[in-house]
Amino acid sequence: MLEVSGLKVFHGLIEAVHGIDLNVDEGQCVALLGPNGAGKTSTLSAITGIVRAEGAIRLLNENLIGTSVEERCRRGIAISPEGRRIFSSLSVYDNLVLGGALQPDKAQLARDIDDWFQQFPILGDRRHQRAGTLSGGEQQMLAIARALVSKPRILLLDEPSLGLAPQITKRIFDIIRDLKTKGVTILLVEQNAGAAIQVSDYVYVLNNGVISTQGSAADFGDGSALITELTGAQG
Ligand SMILES: Nc1ncnc2c1ncn2[C@@H]1O[C@H](COP(=O)(O)OP(=O)(O)O)[C@@H](O)[C@H]1O
Ligand SMILES: [Mg+2]
Repeated sequence: MLEVSGLKVFHGLIEAVHGIDLNVDEGQCVALLGPNGAGKTSTLSAITGIVRAEGAIRLLNENLIGTSVEERCRRGIAISPEGRRIFSSLSVYDNLVLGGALQPDKAQLARDIDDWFQQFPILGDRRHQRAGTLSGGEQQMLAIARALVSKPRILLLDEPSLGLAPQITKRIFDIIRDLKTKGVTILLVEQNAGAAIQVSDYVYVLNNGVISTQGSAADFGDGSALITELTGAQG
């Protein structure tokens, strides 16, 4: 589905990611883990097209490098960004409408949003509420639902559990597992390595802009060795 090769990502003159390769097959959940500052968000930003990048990013064999952000949405890239970035002053419903901005058939969009309210009943209950009044966990659900309304071929999730209490984090990972069961293809960026490994098929570890380790999720066991390594890398 997604094939990234020799990807370099730049912030101005600074090269943050130094030529990485990664693949996500259809229906897989692939984790991109690593300490703070490793280049995870930069990698996702290169895939969505909001930063300068070199190399190849192929979605269904078509290179996205050089195409606009909007074109990439059209081709099936959607993201729940780091920090969620919901539109606080808009209603839950209007946030989802914006997620479906490229859907020309507005009646279909309304039906799709209703379907996501079945999936996320809490959001349905709060459809008329201002998004800024939702709890952190609900805002994260909204950010995920907003991305899904565009019916992406691949869903990018940037630190969905960041700042959430353990109980809420568990709910978010249950949602990710459930989406995977429904066939959604996911590239998951997380600092919560243990939980991410449990929902993933394959794992890449990014350190200082290079992939330092990779393997099938089973190779990482419960992730404790990796967590020790990441904590060491951070401290
Ligand atoms: N907008 C930016 N301008 C300059 N440097 C940036 C910017 N965003 C990220 N960086 C740098 O790029 C590197 C990778 O950052 P980032 O991709 O955000 O890491 P992660 O998401 O893994 O925590 C860091 O050294 C960070 O300081
Ligand atoms: Mg980040």
